[in-house]
Amino acid sequence: MVKTPPFKELTEEQAKLVQTDWDYIKTQANEILYNFFEKFPGNQKQFKAFIGKDLDDIKDTPEFADHAEKIATLFGQVIENLAKDSTKIKELINDMGLRHKDRGISKFAFLEFREAFMDFLRFNVGGSLDGMQAWTDALDSIYHVIFNNLDGTPVH
Ligand code: HEM
Repeated sequence: MVKTPPFKELTEEQAKLVQTDWDYIKTQANEILYNFFEKFPGNQKQFKAFIGKDLDDIKDTPEFADHAEKIATLFGQVIENLAKDSTKIKELINDMGLRHKDRGISKFAFLEFREAFMDFLRFNVGGSLDGMQAWTDALDSIYHVIFNNLDGTPVH
């Protein structure tokens, strides 16, 4: 049984730390997705356009960029609302969580995404302990809503 993390209200200082890091890496959407598939290649088969293809052959395609951008856009919208509007965050993630439930994406796959993303952050931002804790709290909140949706209980 995979545990659902709690929803945490970030302080304004924490939100700022996350926003500053995000501003720094938000143009690296392709690299974030690449790093996920490189670390956890089993997930590539969930994407119709990428099934059976070599990661280095798809990484420069418009489909890859398009998908990477969709993920980054949603992250950006959530991050913009940290410590400001948790109702909006819940709405955004409920919507995404439900669509991923319908696709049959597992909690395990999401945990792999989280692990790859945190590695990416540590490697590319190398932030302070406070910064990393702020990201952990932000991702806990995001995953609280995702996992509830995968369980069929959207968060309001
Ligand atoms: C927190 C992490 C993630 C975010 C923010 C995210 C976000 C998105 C967004 C915004 C879309 C496009 C809108 C939609 O149709 O839902 C999408 C599509 C999709 N996502 Fe995710 N996603 C995440 C993790 C994952 C994981 C872990 C998987 C599975 C390995 C996955 C598989 C897919 C698939 C298969 C699509 C449809 C792609 C297509 O157009 O064919 N996502 N995701």
